[in-house]
Amino acid sequence: MPSPGGHHGGTLAAIALVVALGAAGATAAALKLRREREADALAARLTQGDPSRGPAIALQYGCAGCHAIPGIRGPGGRVGPPLADLGARVYLGGRLTNTPGNLIRWIEDPRAVDPQTAMPTTGISKREARDMAAYLLTLR
Ligand code: HEC
Repeated sequence: MPSPGGHHGGTLAAIALVVALGAAGATAAALKLRREREADALAARLTQGDPSRGPAIALQYGCAGCHAIPGIRGPGGRVGPPLADLGARVYLGGRLTNTPGNLIRWIEDPRAVDPQTAMPTTGISKREARDMAAYLLTLR
């Protein structure tokens, strides 16, 4: 005689395990999403820019032609340094300390900071430079 629940007990435990694992997965995904949202909000606050506009701007002004930038499909140029870990850099263009304000300044007009720099002034507006800086600051 099969004991009542013996077989079922195992099945229920398996179902409980699957449900628990599913919940853990959903929690991890939610946490990742929250971290991304927080990074976006912080970058927006530091720059008064909108990070979501970064990719379009990087293509429009050729940033992605000279720099490898995560999340932006471009030729992945090697003319300028990759901008992946920009948030961790100490100096910009070897001259400016890496603060949000200096990043915006550099992006808007690098030749005003250093007339000798190989990075051209691209004609990007202040507003767009803020958006681009916000995007770059979300990269960690
Ligand atoms: C013609 C190639 C070229 C284009 C286009 C270009 N850059 Fe650059 N960029 C460079 C080079 C070269 C440097 C290194 C300059 C130096 O150290 O003097 C640089 C440096 C930088 C830096 C500083 C990085 C560091 O670690 O010092 C940032 C930020 C940056 N570029 C962002 C941008 C953005 C945003 C755009 C688009 C608006 C852009 N660049 C367009 C070539 C380019």
